[in-house]
Amino acid sequence: MIETERLFIRKFIKNDWADLYEYLSLKEIYVFEPGEPVSRDEAKRLADERSKGDDFLAVVLKERNKMIGHLYFHHEDPKEYMTWELGYIFNPVYQRKGYCTEACKHIIDYAFKQLNAHRIVSYCNPKNIASWRVLEKTGMKREGYFREKAFFRRDENGNPLWHDCLAYGLLSYK
Ligand SMILES: CC(C)(COP(=O)(O)OP(=O)(O)OC[C@H]1O[C@@H](n2cnc3c(N)ncnc32)[C@H](O)[C@@H]1OP(=O)(O)O)[C@@H](O)C(=O)NCCC(=O)NCCS
Repeated sequence: MIETERLFIRKFIKNDWADLYEYLSLKEIYVFEPGEPVSRDEAKRLADERSKGDDFLAVVLKERNKMIGHLYFHHEDPKEYMTWELGYIFNPVYQRKGYCTEACKHIIDYAFKQLNAHRIVSYCNPKNIASWRVLEKTGMKREGYFREKAFFRRDENGNPLWHDCLAYGLLSYK
């Protein structure tokens, strides 16, 4: 459990499913993300799965004891490189209040101080301004620009909808 000024960052619990459903069921969340809106049953399955793994962390607003978003925080292979990938999705009701930045700053600090991380990396679509703004506010450095690196969806004719990708990184000492 990590406590910040306004948030708790903690492991998922099964009971988080309703808060998770509140935002993972919205189409707008997937503009720059793979996947599609989930059902209640899918949200229950996801909360249960995440409670048993290490890759996702729930972000809880202290004053309302409500889960308002989550972090993806994955120890990449090979493990000895001590590199973690960071990602995030927040409930639109609670966006643009600095919560994602606050959570990311603290998880990065935790990774360097407690996990002895060497490097933190993150990727986003250049059109996802909110995402790269968050990364830059945490101090992460823009390391690369990949053209048409991936696609999450296809058009009506089955052609890939390619998107560009920004790569960010931060080292423990700079
Ligand atoms: C990315 C995301 C998690 C950011 O969450 P958040 O809690 O709103 O982030 P913060 O409030 O800490 O910071 C967002 C910053 O982006 C800015 N921003 C947000 N939308 C913007 C837009 N359309 N144009 C310009 N700036 C924008 C905010 O003003 C803020 O910057 P500022 O503090 O300098 O003003 C949220 O937008 C989200 O969940 N998006 C959908 C899922 C997603 O795309 N995840 C990332 C995939 S790589």
